[in-house]
Amino acid sequence: MITFQDVRKVYNQNEIIKGINFTVNQGELFVLIGPSGCGKTTTMKMINRLIEPTGGLIKINGENIAEKDPVHLRRDIGYVIQQIGLFPHMTIAQNVALVPKLKKMKAEEYEKRVDELLTMVGLEPGKFKMRYPSELSGGQQQRVGVIRAMAANPSIILMDEPFSALDPISREQLQDELVKLQKTIKKTIVFVTHDMDEALKIADRICLLKDGEIVQLDTPQNILANPANDFVVEFIGSKRLQQNLKLFKGFKDENKFQREVAGNE
Ligand SMILES: Nc1ncnc2c1ncn2[C@@H]1O[C@H](COP(=O)(O)OP(=O)(O)O)[C@@H](O)[C@H]1O
Ligand SMILES: [Mg+2]
Repeated sequence: MITFQDVRKVYNQNEIIKGINFTVNQGELFVLIGPSGCGKTTTMKMINRLIEPTGGLIKINGENIAEKDPVHLRRDIGYVIQQIGLFPHMTIAQNVALVPKLKKMKAEEYEKRVDELLTMVGLEPGKFKMRYPSELSGGQQQRVGVIRAMAANPSIILMDEPFSALDPISREQLQDELVKLQKTIKKTIVFVTHDMDEALKIADRICLLKDGEIVQLDTPQNILANPANDFVVEFIGSKRLQQNLKLFKGFKDENKFQREVAGNE
């Protein structure tokens, strides 16, 4: 469980994060979303102490992370970013085994784990283990980035726009895989995106940020059914709201729905 209590971040007298409060539950896939510059990455990087808050408190399972050694903290928190940064001179197997080795996992144990994880994301170990990152497609590399973050079995995984550099088809595949993977591994995942379709598809709950403040935090269903204000409506997009209105209000008759929507405009 991750808890933010009145967390603030100030850069050069600019308050970038304005005293935010939220809790991410154990095993939850929690999506931080909002327009560019609203503070998603800053919020996320405060969880693994790549950025220190100016004020407030962040706790993991009740413990103040400010009192923990940042290096140890980071070894227990998987981290996936857009430019995954696989080490080019290491094989896929070596990349994935990196943190398990640092954590002194036994060779036989991490070798088994590498095989399991590769298999989970559809990369046949025999075929991919000994390759170098440049010998994989973008989507395949990003899969390796995701499983590398899971390799040392952290309880928390942070993902900052991990799929946004991929083509739409690979992106959808990876989203599906993540949802499937999450059903088995049940990690606490904080996932940053600016893409509402992605958020609606994968999130247990969505936290919508604007200018360093939380505008709405709820399940995808509740946000769609009850957007908090005009900003949320605009961010979701009226087209999507109409589509979902159809689902939520249980319109069975397509024509009736069309008439309703037309009538409402
Ligand atoms: N090191 C920094 N110094 C000054 N301002 C920063 C720094 N890092 C981020 N910012 C500013 O903080 C705001 C939030 O940034 P960020 O968290 O990266 O946004 P997002 O990930 O939502 O696009 C932006 O206005 C950005 O310019
Ligand atoms: Mg960002």
